[in-house]
Amino acid sequence: MKVLVHICVLLALVAVAYSASSTWGVQNATDYLLINKRVTHPAVRNIAQTFYFDIPESYQSNNKVISAIYLRDQFQNSSGPINTLLYGGPGWTYASIQMRTQAGFGLNVTFAVYGR
Ligand SMILES: *[C@@H]1O[C@H](CO)[C@@H](O)[C@H](O)[C@H]1NC(C)=O
Ligand SMILES: *[C@@H]1O[C@H](CO)[C@@H](O)[C@H](O)[C@H]1NC(C)=O
Ligand SMILES: *[C@@H]1O[C@H](CO)[C@@H](O)[C@H](O)[C@H]1NC(C)=O
Repeated sequence: MKVLVHICVLLALVAVAYSASSTWGVQNATDYLLINKRVTHPAVRNIAQTFYFDIPESYQSNNKVISAIYLRDQFQNSSGPINTLLYGGPGWTYASIQMRTQAGFGLNVTFAVYGR
């Protein structure tokens, strides 16, 4: 029983540590790379900031159906954001992703979006 609890705690910790990078959907070898972009924002002391990443980006259009979105945290030390897909995503031609930074940390993520 005790071992089981320990395993559960361990899994929970692993989930938290890796939550800074997110993936939605699966990429297929024939998919096109639609967007490959780095997004950075400076830290504000003691403040958790919220940023949005929209597909298509402002003043752009997109007629390809999204198959996968890879959001990679570049801090790679679990200081990255908590990410939520608000709407759209795989199967749609649009998406909106919310990134909430941890208090006192900036943002440094890359987006790779694939479509077909
Ligand atoms: C990739 O997508 C194409 C077109 O939708 C499909 O024909 C093919 O089976 C897919 N390949 C894989 C590995 O899913
Ligand atoms: C973002 O992270 C990359 C890789 O760790 C680093 O090379 C780059 O300088 C960082 N950019 C900013 C603005 O912090
Ligand atoms: C994680 O890395 C970033 C950029 O290298 C740095 O600003 C931040 O202090 C680091 N966080 C921790 C908890 O070490």
